Amino acid sequence: MKIAVLAGGTSTERNVSLVTSENVCKALRKLGHKANVIDVFYGTEDYKDTTAFFEDNNDLEKLAEGLKALSGGVKEEVRRRKEAGESFFGNMVVDICRAADVVFMGLHGENGENGKVQAAFDLLGVKYTGPGYLSSALSMDKAITKTMLTPVGIPMPEGEILLRHEPEENAKKNLPVPCVVKPACGGSSVGVTIAFTQEERDEAVKKAFELEEKILVEKYIKGREFSVGVCDGKALPVVEIIPEGGVYDFEHKYDPEGAKEICPAEVPEDVAAKMKHWAEKACEAVGITTYSRVDQLIDEKGDIYCLEINTLPGMTPTSLLPKEAAADGLSYEELVQKLIDISLKNFNTESF
Ligand SMILES: Nc1ncnc2c1ncn2[C@@H]1O[C@H](COP(=O)(O)OP(=O)(O)O)[C@@H](O)[C@H]1O
Ligand SMILES: [Mg+2]
Repeated sequence: MKIAVLAGGTSTERNVSLVTSENVCKALRKLGHKANVIDVFYGTEDYKDTTAFFEDNNDLEKLAEGLKALSGGVKEEVRRRKEAGESFFGNMVVDICRAADVVFMGLHGENGENGKVQAAFDLLGVKYTGPGYLSSALSMDKAITKTMLTPVGIPMPEGEILLRHEPEENAKKNLPVPCVVKPACGGSSVGVTIAFTQEERDEAVKKAFELEEKILVEKYIKGREFSVGVCDGKALPVVEIIPEGGVYDFEHKYDPEGAKEICPAEVPEDVAAKMKHWAEKACEAVGITTYSRVDQLIDEKGDIYCLEINTLPGMTPTSLLPKEAAADGLSYEELVQKLIDISLKNFNTESF
């Protein structure tokens, strides 16, 4: 198959996406596909036509390095394009994606994980991996996710939603301490703060508002951290994450020494079964039929809490989904192929 691996973009997880995409593309080539990586935002100037893009057996590490070097200029380029009324999609991106048999979504975070690219692709007749636009949008916003999952009985930490432009409303809210403050649509723990005092909490709220207009202040759940991948409606083995120093922040997520991951997690069978059940149910609640990964916590009493749904989970060498698949007997390459197969199988061809 001709496969375009869509990478980069403008989100805070741009560089993670470059690592995901490089690894996915290498796997696709090993599997015999004609695959290449393209930055959704910067596009490419390297090819005379789309055929040349798919035929090129280029050095993917070098390509990723080159794209990483552009990351520092993203904000400025976003501003320029907005002022000039230019497209978010980079040069040749739409043509290449239309020419592909399927686009592998190597994106993470805003404009990739939030459903906008998927919605555009639906209208363009482009097939892609992972959840569709609506499930993606619902899962991207943690406040909306809560309103979707809580009514179907999925346990989530109690919390309040604050909006930057409503300081008076916010002041009336009874915010918990200790708590976790996080931007509603962030990812990879960017802007997430654990606050143990009121002062810390107020400071964290201010910091989170610098990143986003909508934030969550959640009850802090002290306990153990897990994640459960779901593929084609079925949960993979549960993974436990034990971060060095106790906090699973951005650095710990992408440093191979930053956290220990144990898969299958060492928890009683009934607890693992419950976590898998909640993961499957969470995906069902927002209409995910392809794949995703659901973050969960267990407190000291043994109560389970779902935190969020990651609709385009990382596929880097330190990422959790490949570890879970490995515990299920699937190699990285086999997982990549499976993600494509289930995405094509579930693809809604009636999208326009
Ligand atoms: N209510 C909570 N109680 C305890 N820890 C939390 C809570 N919410 C988030 N965390 C911690 O913060 C990390 C990031 O939060 P999460 O909601 O998964 O957002 P994201 O991964 O998108 O940044 C989690 O992996 C967990 O370690
Ligand atoms: Mg998370």
